[in-house]
Amino acid sequence: MSQHSQNNDKPNRSFGEQGGLSDSRLVEVHSHLARDKEEPSEGFSILPIVIVFIFCGFGFWAGVYLTRNSGGFSASSFDLDAPKLAADNGPKAFEPDVAKGEKLFIQQCAACHQATGLGVPGAFPPLAGSPWPVGNEERVIKIVLAGLAGEIEVNGQKYVGNMPNIGAGLKDAQVANIVSYVRSAWGNKGEPVMDTKVAEVRKAIGGRGQYSPKEILDQHPLESK
Ligand code: HEC
Repeated sequence: MSQHSQNNDKPNRSFGEQGGLSDSRLVEVHSHLARDKEEPSEGFSILPIVIVFIFCGFGFWAGVYLTRNSGGFSASSFDLDAPKLAADNGPKAFEPDVAKGEKLFIQQCAACHQATGLGVPGAFPPLAGSPWPVGNEERVIKIVLAGLAGEIEVNGQKYVGNMPNIGAGLKDAQVANIVSYVRSAWGNKGEPVMDTKVAEVRKAIGGRGQYSPKEILDQHPLESK
C-alpha cells in the first residue's frame, strides 16, 4: 500500500472513475452517442430549399397584399368616414370652365377672330355680338368640329372665307370650354355647353367635311333676337 492510497476512502480508484464511471463504461456510453448521430452526407437536403421557397412565396404574397390593400399608404385608409379612394382618383364630373375656354380660344381661334372677338373686316367675321355662336348650341359645336366654308353674312357684313375643322383635333371638354367661353364673352349671352353634348354632336356628324353656311342654317336657323 502506498502513502497515497492510504489517505483516500476509496483506494485503487483509476483516473476514469473520478466522475463515477469506469473507463469501459465511458467508452460504452460514447459509442451509443456516436451511433445515434446522423451519418454526415454530401450536398444539401431538400427541406431547407422548401423552406426558402415558402419564405419567398410569403414575401411575394405580402408584397402583392400591400400593393392591393395599402390604400395608397394614405393616412385616411383606416378612416371609415373618408371618401372612397377610387372616387377621389376617378374622373371628375365636367363643369364648363370659361377660364380654360378663354386660354384655348386665344390658342385656337384668336388668330382669325381676334382676342377681342371682333374678327378682321373683310376676312374673318366677328363672334362678339354675332347670332351664330349663341342660341342653339349644336350650330356652333358643328362649326367648330367640322369647319365652315362659303358665303356668310354676319351682322350685316358679307364674308367668303374658309374656317378649318379646329375642333376635330380637340377633346370634347376643350371644345365645350371654348364654346362656353365664346357664348359668354364680349357681352354674348348663351348657355354653357357640356362635354357630353360635344361628344353627342361629334358622333352624329362623324368625320364629315366643312359645312356651308346655308347647310348649317337649314339645320339650325338663326334665332330672331
Ligand atoms: C383660320 C381662321 C379661323 C380660325 C382659326 C377659326 N375660325 Fe371661325 N371662322 C373663320 C372664317 C373665315 C369664318 C367664316 C366662314 C365662311 O365664310 O363661311 C368663321 C366663322 C365662324 C363662326 C360663324 C360666324 C360668326 O362669326 O359667328 C363661328 C361661330 C366661328 N367661326 C367660331 C370659331 C371658333 C370658336 C374658333 C376656335 C375654335 C374658330 N372659329 C377658329 C375663320 C377661322
